[in-house]
Amino acid sequence: MNGKVVAVAGATGVVGRQMLLTLEARNFPVSKIKMLASARLKGRTLPFKGEEIPVEVLGEDSFEGVDIALFSAGGSTSTTYAPAAARAGAVVVDNSSAWRMDPEVPLVVPEVNPEAIKRHKGIIANPNCSTIQMVVVLKPIHDAARIKRVVVSTYQAVSGAGSAAINELREQTRALLDEQPYPPKVFPHQIAFNCIPQIPQSGAFGDNGYTSEEMKMVNETKKIMGDASIAVTATTVRVPVIIGHSESVNIETAKKLTAAEARALLAAAPGVIVEDDLDHQRYPLAVNAAGKYDTFVGRIREDISHPSALDLWIVSDNLLKGAALNAVQIAEHLL
Ligand SMILES: NC(=O)c1ccc[n+]([C@@H]2O[C@H](COP(=O)([O-])OP(=O)(O)OC[C@H]3O[C@@H](n4cnc5c(N)ncnc54)[C@H](OP(=O)(O)O)[C@@H]3O)[C@@H](O)[C@H]2O)c1
Repeated sequence: MNGKVVAVAGATGVVGRQMLLTLEARNFPVSKIKMLASARLKGRTLPFKGEEIPVEVLGEDSFEGVDIALFSAGGSTSTTYAPAAARAGAVVVDNSSAWRMDPEVPLVVPEVNPEAIKRHKGIIANPNCSTIQMVVVLKPIHDAARIKRVVVSTYQAVSGAGSAAINELREQTRALLDEQPYPPKVFPHQIAFNCIPQIPQSGAFGDNGYTSEEMKMVNETKKIMGDASIAVTATTVRVPVIIGHSESVNIETAKKLTAAEARALLAAAPGVIVEDDLDHQRYPLAVNAAGKYDTFVGRIREDISHPSALDLWIVSDNLLKGAALNAVQIAEHLL
């Protein structure tokens, strides 16, 4: 297969670095790689396949000759530069939320709606991290029993807020253990030894009391699943975990599914690993999911308060399936 010219916008960020590692690990056919970031630290290099590649400053003219542009440099950067990349002939896979709800832009999780990819007009959106891991599990259940309503609460890792947030959790934890003060900078409150029910940390609450992360889970789920009738409510919470988002999900279905039926459906679903052995205290854990490509599901049980609903615990690496891996999978479909 001919190699592609691939640009990674935001290559120096936590997601960008995982994109580079994922392209390498999956042997994506790259003939040339362009690393793009801000002018913040000029002269940097980043390793790719054993070579040190200089990081270039992202600009309108960065995409000449580029086939695939993976964007992970924030919403305003994508709003400005993704159309320029598409005009230059690249197909953009964008990790930010800038284009996700644009009706002209496919929002894709390859295990759920790969057919949407071919409708692209130069930009394809990668969904929100918490939504991706939830829909890979919802899809087989919806196909078998039609989902009516989803109630989700998330336990989201700090890496979802970028490298500065990881540093804050590490440094604040160390400071507090040493009984030193560490005022929050990235988060609105102390994140070490705490849970914060506000994602994104800088975002305002909507008139309905929901955060934008919660509304992403509501709206993106309907768009990816291609079914606006699925009712979704979400509470998104930041927890002091570095990598791996966990979710408690209650799913009401039109047709009753037993826990055993749900387990069998999920065991056969692409990208999903059932980890559900209560006798041996086995269930998905963020520390085990970190670094893995799959989405893990366990604690699968019938909701005792409802005639036709299930409770599940879903865990995945937010930087991989929640971001870099999903984007690279989309790029693989483009090949
Ligand atoms: N973390 C996650 O789990 C996750 C999941 C899904 C989607 N995303 C999305 O992915 C994007 C990046 O997130 P992250 O977690 O990797 O953040 P991050 O660690 O803070 O990295 C941000 C990256 O964007 C670059 N950047 C920022 N402003 C720029 C500008 N004006 N021009 C060019 N490059 C610029 C930075 O370059 P410098 O090094 O030069 O500053 C860096 O490479 C965001 O849109 C985020 O919403 C993140």
